[in-house]
Amino acid sequence: PTEGNPPVRRVSDWDADSLRDLAAEHDTPLYVQDLDRVRENCERLLAAFPDADVRYAVKAHTGRAVLAAVRDAGLDAECASAGEVDRALAAGFDGSRLHYTAVNPPARDLDYVAGVAEAEPELTVTVGATDTLDRLAERGYDGRVCVRVNPGVGAGHHEKVTTGGAAKFGIPYDRAAEATRAAAERFDVVGIHAHAGSGIDPDQLDSHRELVARMGDLARELAGPSNAGAGSSGGPDAASDADPVDLEYVDVGGGFGVPYEEDAPALDLPAVAEATREAVAPLPEGTDLAIEPGRYVVADAGVLLTRVNAVKPTPDETVVGVDAGMTDLLRPAMYDAYHPIRNLGGGRERDGGDAPAPAEREATPVTVAGPICETGDTLCRDRALAEPARGDCLAVGVAGAYGYEMASQYNSRPRPAEVALDDGTATVARRRETLSDLTTVEREATSGGDRPE
Ligand code: LLP
Repeated sequence: PTEGNPPVRRVSDWDADSLRDLAAEHDTPLYVQDLDRVRENCERLLAAFPDADVRYAVKAHTGRAVLAAVRDAGLDAECASAGEVDRALAAGFDGSRLHYTAVNPPARDLDYVAGVAEAEPELTVTVGATDTLDRLAERGYDGRVCVRVNPGVGAGHHEKVTTGGAAKFGIPYDRAAEATRAAAERFDVVGIHAHAGSGIDPDQLDSHRELVARMGDLARELAGPSNAGAGSSGGPDAASDADPVDLEYVDVGGGFGVPYEEDAPALDLPAVAEATREAVAPLPEGTDLAIEPGRYVVADAGVLLTRVNAVKPTPDETVVGVDAGMTDLLRPAMYDAYHPIRNLGGGRERDGGDAPAPAEREATPVTVAGPICETGDTLCRDRALAEPARGDCLAVGVAGAYGYEMASQYNSRPRPAEVALDDGTATVARRRETLSDLTTVEREATSGGDRPE
């Protein structure tokens, strides 16, 4: 099923003319998300992990059309907040395909999710603290629970997204068996869960394997004496003779990296899947593997289009001023993340004539900077691009994951628009925000004399 379905789509693979047309029609900054590519990524995941439950980490891209495509492809939804659950429900995921995995959820989110569970009892709530279990019980919830574990080992493209060892996530590994057994006395405990971190590259697979192995050990330990010790190290608490906990699944999280640099290798997904299966094995009878990729599903399906408004030579560098910045794509400012940038051309020379096609221009080192009043607001530094001219359209690649999702209105900038491509047809999936959108919540708060407390 994955024939003709390459493991990565590079920014150079997009059709420049179509992208320039979209920028002209819908203005910039503009996100473009290709649903066909989202479907291909889902297919590749399902083909690599045929026996696993594959859950899409909704936070990577919450657009309705993306969620619908993922749902139709057969993935479940992993939701980190009430808002994500709400979106997933609206996109047609039913309770049996919903996994709520919030970290320290606020009371109103727990109220909301407990309410959803009454109508959708197949929904699973993943919990990483005993206090959260108590708070769920206080709301009368006695349904499906998955225990989030801190496996003590993590991985990821940046320390800020390495979760596996970070104390805020999950119940410490050495207390996980006990906490899971205690939870099973109050709830229908169906799974255990851990997530190493985000953007795991080929050279970090050992850490991921270690996490997976620990989760396999824990599953066997919980399944009881006949299973404990069947795996590599015998589990965290192998001597216990407590009641067994029958798990439906062991969720080893998401985090599969995608290459951002043009020449970086793609993750060998079938090999990662094989290594994951081996590391977690043997799972107790009736227990399945589960994974929850976000980035892998949507990252290379999206680009951000931006327009060159100024080309400024300075003594140190040439600064290319564009209309997208950290409010549209935060990743470079927040994680020093690399995004490939391709000049699609279309601009004018300084003397007024059309600039030549990008392929005919010289590669020139430039810094691409956004319009935000922060020095960190750059999309790249000292990067060789086909010499930019004013009016050129630039495509910022691999922007489909954590792009629009992390956009803000800082500097009172309306968030960009997004078009979804479906079999080549473009539809506005999120309209561009207006200046009026910027003040809606203020005007609503103060109208009719009702002032916020
Ligand atoms: N499961 C859990 C519990 C998670 O916290 C995450 C991501 C995922 C799955 C999906 O991870 P993925 O497969 O997408 O790597 N804003 C950052 C990434 C933060 C990821 C947070 N958690 C970035 O732009 O790199």
